[in-house]
Amino acid sequence: MPAKLSVNINKIATLRNSRGGNVPNVLQVALDCERFGADGITVHPRPDERHIRYTDVYTLSQHLTTEFNIEGNPKEAKFVELVLAVKPAQVTLVPDAGNQLTSDHGWDTLAERAYLTDMIARFKAAGIRTSIFIDPNEAMVEGAALTGTDRIELYTEAYAQQYPNDRVNALAHFIKAAEKAQEVGLGLNAGHDLSLHNLTYFASRISGLLEVSIGHALIADALYLGLENTIQLYKRALALHE
Ligand code: PXP
Repeated sequence: MPAKLSVNINKIATLRNSRGGNVPNVLQVALDCERFGADGITVHPRPDERHIRYTDVYTLSQHLTTEFNIEGNPKEAKFVELVLAVKPAQVTLVPDAGNQLTSDHGWDTLAERAYLTDMIARFKAAGIRTSIFIDPNEAMVEGAALTGTDRIELYTEAYAQQYPNDRVNALAHFIKAAEKAQEVGLGLNAGHDLSLHNLTYFASRISGLLEVSIGHALIADALYLGLENTIQLYKRALALHE
């Protein structure tokens, strides 16, 4: 089974917010992503609501039929409240600061073990699958397993950066982290800077990969290729081998 494709629609909300109206319509785009073959929709609400707004998250949750994944930092009380109210299929915990441009590091699962264990128990008690965003580091994977999380999401920016020059070495840490995840019984997701250029090599060589969430490159590709075609191309990239 190829990994599932969850489309991150934050960029659609950013475009809408730039004019203050409702164009493009975030809900309609999400429903169309599903119609075009996305296996899930991801949003990453931030406290300043500069991309997805909290009200978008409630609206989306009432209409989506595929897996809804909400990413964010549980240290924001408002985020925890939102996720527990919406009860998405999955919550992905990300240790980003509110004003960060985008996520740029994973959790220190050893230093934050007690905190993460507590948060994960709260989300799991509400029936929500949990994932925590980490760097491709075996010690962090082992630490993640101790928190009780269902899955981890490997932060793939380092892979994407190194891919054009040395894709073999770019992948090495990720292969080890993925093997460790399987050994300790964690489900595996991945995301950040994945694109049509680097996706097949990653997905076909990381065993047990369940889901990727992709936003920036996919939405940028859609400007040239159209959203339906782009989603189909990403799905195909996940099914190919390289
Ligand atoms: N995963 C996480 C935790 C993220 O924060 C983001 C960006 O919001 C992504 C995946 C998707 O990254 P990109 O937009 O580069 O595809």
